[in-house]
Amino acid sequence: MKVILGILIIVSLSAGQVNYSSQIQPIFNQNCTGCHGSNGGLNLTSYAELMKGGNSGDVVNAGDAANSLLVQRIDGTITPRMPQGSDALADSTIDLIERWINEGAMEEASITEEEPMPVQFEIAGNFPNPFNPSTRIVISANREVEGSAVIATASGRTVFDFGNLRMNPGANSLVWQGEDNNGRRLSSGPYLFIFRSADQILSHRMILLK
Ligand code: HEC
Repeated sequence: MKVILGILIIVSLSAGQVNYSSQIQPIFNQNCTGCHGSNGGLNLTSYAELMKGGNSGDVVNAGDAANSLLVQRIDGTITPRMPQGSDALADSTIDLIERWINEGAMEEASITEEEPMPVQFEIAGNFPNPFNPSTRIVISANREVEGSAVIATASGRTVFDFGNLRMNPGANSLVWQGEDNNGRRLSSGPYLFIFRSADQILSHRMILLK
């Protein structure tokens, strides 16, 4: 069990996605919006405005930081380098913007396999997986955690609701019968177990086989 948790924590750190509103917008607020406000041209005051682009068109090419005018202007590939008239942004700040664009330049980070630290609970796995007809989902918590859990399809549609749950310190198990809340058997395929607490969302992929 310790080994499994160790692996999950490593996965969680590398899967941590850049978040637009808490990590990228503040960079623009601090360095750019003084000039790039709402008085014409490129507006950097929100995600929606940024994605509208500037006089040259799109400045973000989702998935391709190197070919995004935004990056070319802050790394100086295209001059004048931004922020105009000030020192260049720190390399680490430029890296962060590049990472955000290369991850798809999304407004909301998509749900990752595990959220970063502080670890309060982990989904240790579901047993068996693939499964039929039922599976046991094991969640390890290092303290009491309240939250709610659902089963969703791969496209995010909720098919089963466990309601509100309280996890105790240690290993907690939940059994899912492969059915929706009306007792109907669901079809084969991948399903996501999603647990939400006040400050964490965890998801875990499971396969129902018939
Ligand atoms: C002191 C004012 C000023 C600041 C601060 C500033 N810019 Fe600019 N920026 C300009 C001006 C003026 C232009 C348009 C003229 C030009 O392209 O040289 C421009 C153009 C741009 C363009 C090209 C837009 C297009 O459509 O061609 C991008 C991208 C850009 N800025 C990004 C930024 C970013 C990102 C920041 C903050 C890190 C920033 N700028 C900070 C004044 C500023």
